[in-house]
Amino acid sequence: MSESREKARRRMRELVDAISHHDTKYYVEDNPEISDFEYDQLVQELNDLEATFPDLVLPDSPTQRVSGKALEEFPQVEHKVAMLSLGNSYSPEELKEFDARVRKWLGEEKVEYVVELKIDGLGIALLYEDGELTRGATRGDGKVGEEVTQNIKTIRSIPLRLRPDSGLRTIEVRGEVYMPTEGLRRLNKDREQRGEPLFANPRNAAAGSVRQLDPKIAASRPLEAFFYTLGYSKESMPKTHEACIEAMKQAGLRVSPHTRKFDSIDKVLGHISSWESKRDDLGYEIDGMVVKVNSLAQQLKLGYTAKEPRWAIAFKYPPKQMTTRLIDIQVQVGRTGALTPVAVLEPVQVGGVTVTHATLHNEDEVKRKGLMIGDHVLIERAGEVIPQVVKAIVDRRTGKEREFRMPQTCPVCGSKAVREEDEAVRRCVNASCPAQVKERLTHFTSRGAMDIEGVGPSLIDQLVEKGLVSDAADLYALRKEQLLELEGFAEKSSQNVLDAVNSSRGREFDRVLYALGIRHVGKTTATVLAEAMRNLDRIQSATEEELSRIEGIGQVVAEAIRDFMDNPKNHALLGRLRKAGLRMELEKKASGPLSGKTFLFTGELSSMPRPEAEALVQSLGGKISRGVTKALDYLVVGKDPGSKLAKAKSLGMTILDEKAFLEMVGKK
Ligand code: IVH
Repeated sequence: MSESREKARRRMRELVDAISHHDTKYYVEDNPEISDFEYDQLVQELNDLEATFPDLVLPDSPTQRVSGKALEEFPQVEHKVAMLSLGNSYSPEELKEFDARVRKWLGEEKVEYVVELKIDGLGIALLYEDGELTRGATRGDGKVGEEVTQNIKTIRSIPLRLRPDSGLRTIEVRGEVYMPTEGLRRLNKDREQRGEPLFANPRNAAAGSVRQLDPKIAASRPLEAFFYTLGYSKESMPKTHEACIEAMKQAGLRVSPHTRKFDSIDKVLGHISSWESKRDDLGYEIDGMVVKVNSLAQQLKLGYTAKEPRWAIAFKYPPKQMTTRLIDIQVQVGRTGALTPVAVLEPVQVGGVTVTHATLHNEDEVKRKGLMIGDHVLIERAGEVIPQVVKAIVDRRTGKEREFRMPQTCPVCGSKAVREEDEAVRRCVNASCPAQVKERLTHFTSRGAMDIEGVGPSLIDQLVEKGLVSDAADLYALRKEQLLELEGFAEKSSQNVLDAVNSSRGREFDRVLYALGIRHVGKTTATVLAEAMRNLDRIQSATEEELSRIEGIGQVVAEAIRDFMDNPKNHALLGRLRKAGLRMELEKKASGPLSGKTFLFTGELSSMPRPEAEALVQSLGGKISRGVTKALDYLVVGKDPGSKLAKAKSLGMTILDEKAFLEMVGKK
């Protein structure tokens, strides 16, 4: 081998190891050591070397995560040790019966339980041979699964190689691939725009993605994984489940930070009930908790029934799926005129909430699901995702069901409703349609936009019906005597509304932009746009091409902004809003008491959700850091902190508990 080749080979090995180390830090431990920029430089250098020496590309190179052609079908794999299922329990009594069975079987022995989250995804088994990921398979029917190695490799939180310094080399591990709720929301939004069928829940989405024949598609899906079973280890096997989890963690496999150990079933029950409400804030779905006997020797003694282990059981939370009847399908008109079919349901309790309506997205979705009015339907409420109709229970049809027809005219104003070619959505063409006007105003005054307290849907209804308001600028011209004429309004309530409208004039420019309700311009895009262009004049005069060059703004968004600005009605509206005193340029950030200081949060705060705390820091001029880096000034520590705490301690950073943080921001 020539000297330069040898040098390149060595450098490629170094780079692959370094990138894999930083991947673990970022994707597995959520605790990066370098900036995105520095990381990108490593990847770039590796890319360049691989382009020059294609025959030296290492099999565990991160560039090989997406490789190989689309398959015709997945090869079948027989699991060496069957992947069994879990028995279920639904009440504290059933869990106590499980505990009694375990104790009876084990006699006088002391029993410890490990309790884990039951992640609602797709069970998988991975094989690492001599430290290298060689096979990934789905659970299948437990005996035979499908080999999905190519797709598994695209998941960034799954290491291609185990950490060389860990004790594990040749192992089989089991875990769950899942899709975070936000990832599913985005994926479904994209699919809706393209007129593709939507995923009803994160489990279907994860399963559908892992079982994609084309690894490029799997790679584009936001999948993550947690591992919870060390099934086999050639080198050495720990003595407890807890130690197995720790060994997997040391090897670089992502394990849940929420696993806990208890010495009595009552403590287990306390823990489980405390998670029932917390589960909605996880960012991914769990359908229960799993209780496992900690000692592997005891697990062996307890053994298995035909289907499931005697040493573990699932505790299921109330289901988020229920059947009910589809009483009617109504059609709502949104602020862009989009006609959305909405399912009117016989009220039903789902996961502790009464559900009466569910979105049906668009006419194609109703057709695809074959829904008829009067059908019994299966509905699901998953995480923060709004209730969805999963399917009709066709067997329960009586013949009295009616077909649904999407109206060709707007149900509110009677104007034509048109469906553009290659669009899934039908829209009312009348921009002055009262439904559109009301929706636009509701968006304008909403909390994330101009935040005009007291001006919600019911007042807006009245204002529009009485002809007092037909666009946002009209709000700023409202007079007290007009409000006094409305139902339920007296001197004080009218003054409150006027005050709220008045004080909204000072909102930042990015909020004004968001409040306008330009298609595809959500909060983040509005901020990006405001920061890049600084003022309205520049946005109004920018070409589509200039707009699409802004990082974070693509072609579709640029086109939507241009469309909005080119509409003479909107032009006039912006002029009137400017006259009303709204900010049409970005102010220099008032330097707040936290200005120049960087914060990072770990663990749960009891006084407010984390995003609120982060927004609070930013509103006071502070910044939020992505990881424990040298630039960090304060680590704020809540309950159950993650690994960031140890790292910050080792770097001698200032650590604030929640109380100290609240004092600093003047909340105590
Ligand atoms: S242990 C023999 N632990 O739930 C032990 N399973 O309903 C089998 N699951 O097939 C699995 N989170 O796909 C275990 N912490 C966890 C889990 C978990 C999710 C899934 C797994 C299993 C299914 C059983």
